Parts: sequence; structure tokens; C-alpha cells
Amino acid sequence: MFPITYQSTGEFMKLMQLYAAMKSDLQAIEDQMAITVASDLPTLSEASLHLLKAGGKRIRPIFVLLSGKFGTYSVETLKRVAVPLELIHMATLVHDDVIDDANIRRGQLTVKSKWDNRIAMYTGDYIYAKALTVITELDKPRIHQVLSGSIVQMVIGEMEQIRDFFNVDQSVRNYLLRIRRKTALLIAISCQLGALATDAPPRASHALYRFGYNVGMAFQITDDLLDLCGTEKAIGKPPGSDLRQGNITLPVLYALQDASIKDKLLEEIELIKISEGVANSAAAVKLVRSSSGIKKAEEMASRYIAKALKALEGLPDIPAKRNLADIARIVAKRSY
Ligand code: IPE
Ligand code: IPE
Ligand code: MG
Ligand code: MG
Repeated sequence: MFPITYQSTGEFMKLMQLYAAMKSDLQAIEDQMAITVASDLPTLSEASLHLLKAGGKRIRPIFVLLSGKFGTYSVETLKRVAVPLELIHMATLVHDDVIDDANIRRGQLTVKSKWDNRIAMYTGDYIYAKALTVITELDKPRIHQVLSGSIVQMVIGEMEQIRDFFNVDQSVRNYLLRIRRKTALLIAISCQLGALATDAPPRASHALYRFGYNVGMAFQITDDLLDLCGTEKAIGKPPGSDLRQGNITLPVLYALQDASIKDKLLEEIELIKISEGVANSAAAVKLVRSSSGIKKAEEMASRYIAKALKALEGLPDIPAKRNLADIARIVAKRSY
């Protein structure tokens, strides 16, 4: 199921051990996802299974399961939250790759590249709808309200990203609001819904939401750092894509505050803009890498991780609490 690449760091080994400990429950989720997207129409099945089989970190199902440990744990119940959340995440990726014109994800061709944009749009819609058929097996309106609210926010976040393309004057706050919507909320509700589905105490579900939100913010900041500093082999997608598209991320915003490279960087970004996607972003990426923007963004991610760890403090001392803390620390250091 897992990786795109294997790292041998201590932190990564911890994550792998955690996956091993939850192996049978994660396998149940994996099986259910494949059953859920199966279709009599070969293209729909093939395109959906293509991305499913390519792997992924499965961070959202992991958070659902661990959060469920704070209530009355039942894999049957939690499956009905974890499967839809991971499928909704996958559906957004299928659509995102159309918007971002991305050819490679999880080290494999994207649906839009292996098939085409039209197939990708409907495959994304189909995966979305199938996800909903699973979660509606749960008879708790609150769960459905939380989920639909967060999908609305995610769409707004993606629209804001389009609006903000090539806007070099946007504030850090603007960036943070955007990633809150596009990424952090879905991770926050993975924790919250795991708690709600298992009737965990409200205080626990609130703390888990705060935890997930802060990890989610760090997660997207790290994703944006990896797009600038990672290798294709490690991240499963070509680096430099954000700038090529005009997506001005946190390290770039901070780099623009660095007087020693500001003018040169603005020039490079303008060149990408006027070339309408033809120019590559290598020169701009190099400038950002050489600036203080990388370190400042890393510090911001670390601050969110510290907040996530703080959110866990009020929770009962069960092994899942330590597992969540371990994952939070890994997120800040991940290279994949
Ligand atoms: C990628 O999410 C998109 C972001 C929200 C950063 P993941 O990094 O969780 O993607 P997979 O599921 O592991 O491929
Ligand atoms: C992923 O965002 C899409 C959503 C969070 C909805 P990105 O565009 O940053 O993710 P990658 O880099 O394609 O994985
Ligand atoms: Mg993308
Ligand atoms: Mg995107």
C-alpha cells in the first residue's frame, strides 16, 4: 500500500511500525475502498483503481482510526468514515491534477494523463459520489454536516488558489487561510469524525479536531517546501510545479521578503507568467532555495506541529495519543 520511496530514518521507521500495528484495520479499509469504486463500466473501474493502487500515505484513514481509540473503537464503524474520507481526498487529487495540468502523481501517470481530462473529471465525480454512499450508512446527521461543510471549504480554497495565481503581493495570512481550506480542514475532520463516529467525549473530539487542523497546516506547508526542495523520486511528482503554475507558496512569499534576491525572483516569476506555462521554473526555484524563505517556512511548519502537540495535552493517556504525537513529528520532517 504505502510508499512512493523508502527512507531509513528513525522517524520513518516509527511510522512504518505504526502502520504494521494497525495493519489488519488498514487492510480492511483498503479492501473496502477497492470494492466501493468497482464498477461495471471498465473505464470508471480502471481509472479509479489506477490511483488507488498507486498507494499514498493514507494519513487520513490513520487519523480516523487513531481518533476512534478515544471512543468506543469499532473498525466496522470507523471504516465508514475512513473509506469515504480517503476516497474524497483521492477524488480531489484526480480533479486537482486536471487543474494543475500534472502528469505524474504517486510515481504514476495521473488519470488525466493516462486517459484524458474528460475521463478525469467524471472519475473524480464518481469517486466522490461513491464515497458518499459509504458514509451515509452512518445514521448521525452531524457527521454529514461536518463532511459537506469541509468539502465546500476545500472547493473555496482551490478557487482562491486560482484567484491568487501569480499574485506576488499576497500576504502570508492570505496563504494560510487558503491552505486551511484546501488541506487542513479535511485532516482536522478526519480526526473529529473518528471521534464523533465512536461517541468519544466532546472534549476529546474538539481536541482531536485542533490537533488535525494544526497537523494539516504543517502538512501543506511541508508539501509546498517539498515542491521546491524535493526530488521527483522522493515525492512522486515533478518538483517546481507550483511556481510553474503560478502558485505562490509560503517559502516563495518569505523569499520575496529577502532583499538580496527579491528583484531577481520577481523577474523570474514574471517570465514564467508571460510564457504561459512554457518556461520552466528552475531558475525561480533555485533562487527560493538559496533564500531565507525555506528556513522561515520550516519554522512556521514547526510552530503548527508544536500547536498540534499542545492540542493533545488534555486527552487521556492511551497509546493512540503517543501515536498521534509521533505522526505529527514525522509530518514536519517528512521528505515524501
Ligand atoms: C497531497 O496529499 C495533497 C495535499 C493535500 C498536500 P497527500 O500528501 O496526503 O497525498 P497522498 O495521499 O499521500 O498521495
Ligand atoms: C492538493 O493540493 C489539492 C487539494 C488539497 C484539494 P496541491 O496541488 O498542493 O497538491 P499536490 O502538490 O498536487 O499533491
Ligand atoms: Mg496539485
Ligand atoms: Mg493544486
